[in-house]
Amino acid sequence: MERTKILVTGGAGYIGSHAVVELYEAGFQPVIIDNFSNSQQSALAGVEEILGVKIPFHGIDCNDIEAMRAVFAEEGSLKGVIHFAAYKAVGESIQKPLEYYQNNVGSLLTLLQVMREFGVASLVFSSSCTVYGVPDALPVTEQTPTKKANSPYGATKQMCEDILRDVAAAPAGGLRTILLRYFNPIGAHASAKIGELPLGVPQNLIPYVTQTAAGIREKLTIHGNTYDTPDGTNIRDYVHVVDLAKAHVVAVQRLLDGTGDTVETFNVGTGRGNSVLEVVQAFERATGQKLNYTIGPPRPGDVPAIYADVTKSVQKLGFQTSSTLEEALASAWKWQLSLANG
Ligand code: WQD
Repeated sequence: MERTKILVTGGAGYIGSHAVVELYEAGFQPVIIDNFSNSQQSALAGVEEILGVKIPFHGIDCNDIEAMRAVFAEEGSLKGVIHFAAYKAVGESIQKPLEYYQNNVGSLLTLLQVMREFGVASLVFSSSCTVYGVPDALPVTEQTPTKKANSPYGATKQMCEDILRDVAAAPAGGLRTILLRYFNPIGAHASAKIGELPLGVPQNLIPYVTQTAAGIREKLTIHGNTYDTPDGTNIRDYVHVVDLAKAHVVAVQRLLDGTGDTVETFNVGTGRGNSVLEVVQAFERATGQKLNYTIGPPRPGDVPAIYADVTKSVQKLGFQTSSTLEEALASAWKWQLSLANG
């Protein structure tokens, strides 16, 4: 039987590459678009090694409407799209707001236009728990009000959500979309052939932890321990990237089945909050590595605590994570070791 073709923008990126693997293994035919602006060719090689097949790839920019039209025309029978392609660094977005709005919002508009021209109706969009800002109550549900974003990056996610709601609500729109609000993705594929590839000094916790354990960084600095949380460090909901990838497969299937509403929003997290200190301890337990760390000042802009209420994802989407924090951290460590080995 012919596989159903799903376009995956940003398919060479951290989450995108894991989603391509899960899509293929679930029987879909992923087609990748990536311009390698923050990803590497090696991710495609890793995906193909895991799957043992070549995956159709187009090295274009999602903002290039003519190139996008050419891909839709050449591929012919695309049934849906997962739009991962975007810039994602909070700090950088404050330095380069125009680039962030142009790339993140502009690429969505271009994609939606081309999808309409080619009659492709189903879209899964990468949103973020950043839309909740500093929540008034925990855990956050999909009904928790969004707050004014504290970075252009966060603002682009909110704007894209608004655009999608409006386009899907238009009478002649035809768009059906699922907005997935990711919490903190961590870890790597069990094969250690794909994983996170941070450029330069990592800003995110887990790559900093694994690089410290590997001796690339001298020590981890924990950004503050005087928050209003049990041990004083920030609390996040760390979700294994393979679990997160699987949420996309479920979402695509739901769109194609037509069982849901025209627009649906789901949190993708574990439903558990862990502090930075708990992550450090879990890493030590999971890997047997001792981690050198120190306590530094709070990082500007950090939300003290956030984690997901996953009731809606479990009940409506039928999605649940399966990995523990230790398993996710062990996979991140295995990936770090495989990077060190070349
Ligand atoms: C996690 C925790 C830090 C590094 C960001 C974006 C979010 C997103 C994922 C985008 C925090 C602490 C970190 C370090 C530390 N989406 N930390 N020392 O900030 O929760 O989320 O990335 O792609 O939108 O805001 O993730 O991994 O940076 O930090 O103590 O060296 O680890 O303070 O509490 P964050 P993170």
